[in-house]
Amino acid sequence: MNQQAGKFSRLGFVLSATGAAVGLGNIWKFPYITGVYGGGAFVMVYLVTILLIGASLLIAEMLIGKRGQKDCVSSFEELAPPDRKGWKYAGFMLFTGLVIMTFYSVVIGWIFYYMYLAIAGLPTTIESAKGTFDALYAHAPFLQIFFHLISVLFVAYVLLGGIKKGIEKTNLILIPFLLFILLGLLVYALNFDGFAKAVSFMFAPDFSKLSAEAIIRAVGHSFFTLSIGIGSILTYAAALPKHSNIYKAGLMVAFMDTLIALIAGLVIFSFLFQFGGTPDKGPGLVFVSLPVIFAKLGTLGQGIAFIFFVAMAVAGLTSAISLVEPAVMYLEDRLGWVRKKAVLWSSLLYFLIGVFVIFSISDGFKAPFTFGTKSLFDVLEFAVDSFLMPLGGFLIAIFVGYVLKREVVESELLGHMGNTVFKIWYFSIRFIAPLAVLFLAYNALKV
Ligand code: PHE
Repeated sequence: MNQQAGKFSRLGFVLSATGAAVGLGNIWKFPYITGVYGGGAFVMVYLVTILLIGASLLIAEMLIGKRGQKDCVSSFEELAPPDRKGWKYAGFMLFTGLVIMTFYSVVIGWIFYYMYLAIAGLPTTIESAKGTFDALYAHAPFLQIFFHLISVLFVAYVLLGGIKKGIEKTNLILIPFLLFILLGLLVYALNFDGFAKAVSFMFAPDFSKLSAEAIIRAVGHSFFTLSIGIGSILTYAAALPKHSNIYKAGLMVAFMDTLIALIAGLVIFSFLFQFGGTPDKGPGLVFVSLPVIFAKLGTLGQGIAFIFFVAMAVAGLTSAISLVEPAVMYLEDRLGWVRKKAVLWSSLLYFLIGVFVIFSISDGFKAPFTFGTKSLFDVLEFAVDSFLMPLGGFLIAIFVGYVLKREVVESELLGHMGNTVFKIWYFSIRFIAPLAVLFLAYNALKV
């Protein structure tokens, strides 16, 4: 561990790992896929998956980082038995973070643009809102590149500060701020009649609406939302003090992540049901349906819209930091680069590919970046969701479940978990989690 990077405090770690987990996945994706897949029953599957698989894997990934104390590749190498050092290649899951950033940062850029719109004037009809979004998405590549660059620069700036002065400090401020905004919005939404409808939409399960596809999406999303399988959590956990309780930390992070997704869902659906929108509009939910509703509320609505998009930007940026840090730490610790150089090159790499991603959805530029019917954007997102993250999760489960000695695993967890919980957790890591991933991969191939 190098000097500048330093170690997390306990609270710093929990908030930073929460910052990694809580992101666009919670505020943008979770509500819209819940809407698309019909509400209650989907939410049930999601909650069960988080509990049975997600939280277990999160703890397993923390375990590798905490024991390894090094960058993602070196931690696997360090912990693997002498005759199985090839496991270090599992550490290259850290590249997934950069792949995610090529489109994640673009979406953060859209949010910046909507923060601006909240002040400058929001579209007032669904038609014009679609037009506004489309004008940005498909016809304004250079505006998108500009906002993408702002996001890249923000993330790079925080990363330059290292673990303590950069990552921990940023999350200690921004995560409580995010919670404050979301709770404020929730309290506001409590006054609506739409709130009761939102509650019943999200929590009254109608299993007849549950398709196989919905189950796959719920399982896949539980990985994405908890940031499992790309070395982010591992890399953060490598900066944990020796006696930290990763069981408690893991539960806390999974709990906060779920709570924030549910609050975001309740807020968004309350507004929708109160002011006459439909929940099944897909990815445009927060960029098309919500702005129109906010616009109806006049100046107050503009204020709410601004605050809402700030919350989304904060959630996105704190995740973005954790997506890039594994690559930076690898370059620094393993290849001996100074932090500045590591941050510069990793940022430049995903920034440039991000530019291609933007071109791939922009009219007039997309041809070289389109594969069959899919844009580079779609291809990368699909690769991450259906392949790279599940693969990372699978490797973590196998490594902790079968490669690490049981005594090592026990020494880290048994004292905190007690016998029964440990047995359940270990069973989940050895059997349930790997099977769930195989199920995901098998179904993804069928699509
Ligand atoms: N969990 C983040 C989200 O919900 C995304 C993410 C994935 C962040 C993997 C870090 C690592 O948006």
